[in-house]
Amino acid sequence: MDKQAKTAKESFVVMTELVLPNDTNTFGNLMGGRLMYWMDIAAALAAMKHCGAPVVTASVDNISFENPIKLGNVVHIEAKVTRAFNSSMEVHLRVWGEDAIHQYKYKSNEAYYTFVALDPNGNPRPVAPLLPESEEEKRLFDGALRRRQLRLVLGGKMKPEDATELKALFQ
Ligand SMILES: CC(C)(COP(=O)(O)OP(=O)(O)OC[C@H]1O[C@@H](n2cnc3c(N)ncnc32)[C@H](O)[C@@H]1OP(=O)(O)O)[C@@H](O)C(=O)NCCC(=O)NCCS
Repeated sequence: MDKQAKTAKESFVVMTELVLPNDTNTFGNLMGGRLMYWMDIAAALAAMKHCGAPVVTASVDNISFENPIKLGNVVHIEAKVTRAFNSSMEVHLRVWGEDAIHQYKYKSNEAYYTFVALDPNGNPRPVAPLLPESEEEKRLFDGALRRRQLRLVLGGKMKPEDATELKALFQ
């Protein structure tokens, strides 16, 4: 039976953390690995909300840290599903730092994580399609097929000649 489509809003997750001394590097900034851990959890929750099943992280696209997040600042992570394929879902994340004392927010990074829904035997299982609503959701939805093909080619899971959306890059 086909699963009923869900909107991106239904998977929307916001995570807020305070950067404590144990989260920082020797420069007093949030460690990248700690941030990626929080991002993984926020993104997994978005994927689980979409598919209503346990999920595993299949891949993480490149992450560029634009601005360091300082000790004592707040981290805001927003995650939502951009597109669902068969058993996999792409999740888009946006990360901000906030200085709550001086009251300003600054962008840290954006990233795409991919999750696969699993059945009780640990095998990939089908997920509901995603129905984009806003202009931005439609743009992210459209780009998701190109990003999927690129990450599968780079991960050795797809032959470049099968990447229909990327032919111009590889030929
Ligand atoms: C992710 C995983 C379930 C995929 O299993 P698999 O045997 O390759 O399964 P399939 O080839 O049938 O692919 C299943 C889905 O995963 C997707 N997938 C596989 N490798 C991927 C990758 N590197 N990046 C993105 N998606 C990937 C496929 O595109 C497919 O998606 P679709 O069903 O929407 O078309 C499996 O590799 C796994 O369990 N990996 C470890 C996950 C984990 O432990 N993560 C935590 C980090 S330690």
